[in-house]
Amino acid sequence: MRIDILTIFPNMFNGVFEESILKRAIEDKKVEINLINFRDYTNDPHNKVDDTPFGGGAGMVLMCQPIFDCIKSIRTEDSKVIMMTPDGVPYKQKMAYDLSKEKHLIILCGHYEGFDERIRSICDMEISIGDYVLTGGEIPAMVLVDSITRLIPGVINERSHIEDSFNDNYLLDYPTYTKPRVYEGMEVPEVLISGDHKKIDEYRYQESIKRTQERRPDLLDK
Ligand code: ADE
Repeated sequence: MRIDILTIFPNMFNGVFEESILKRAIEDKKVEINLINFRDYTNDPHNKVDDTPFGGGAGMVLMCQPIFDCIKSIRTEDSKVIMMTPDGVPYKQKMAYDLSKEKHLIILCGHYEGFDERIRSICDMEISIGDYVLTGGEIPAMVLVDSITRLIPGVINERSHIEDSFNDNYLLDYPTYTKPRVYEGMEVPEVLISGDHKKIDEYRYQESIKRTQERRPDLLDK
């Protein structure tokens, strides 16, 4: 998969793709990530990418021209253009799965007061990562890239994401433990040491239900 991230602050991504699973996914060519500064596409003699809003008001608004020209120059028939915006569709694990099957994602990050409304017309999707407003779309884009990349076949052990919370089963994860068996008086549940895998599966399933009931009863409604 190829992911192009359109941003005027490419340095914000420094280091993010250079550690751990994302780094390996890039090295193994499971994903190619390009940072594209759409300021490079402006026709403005002073390199402007934003201007004041018509009708007045605070802040600056990202202009159509650099973003349209940038997207038009990299888009192919296989591309999906995603705008990161707090008024987009709330991001869910199911969307990460669907997007992990795409060939080419173009992720557009905004900044300042937002985008000229007409920029929405060149995007296929608008995504919000939650009901809060960040300073820009860069951190949301990182969230998208991370959650999608780990689902590309061969990036992590398939079982790990089959068992993820928020998969189709809408259950939170069961509790997990590692050595030692007792830590500051807190013991690992006996069943996990029993070696009886049927019992362990049943215990984990019940714990998942319990935890979901306690923390996210809204998920069980689904
Ligand atoms: N840009 C600013 N806040 C955002 C959010 N919550 N989701 C996506 N993009 C954003």
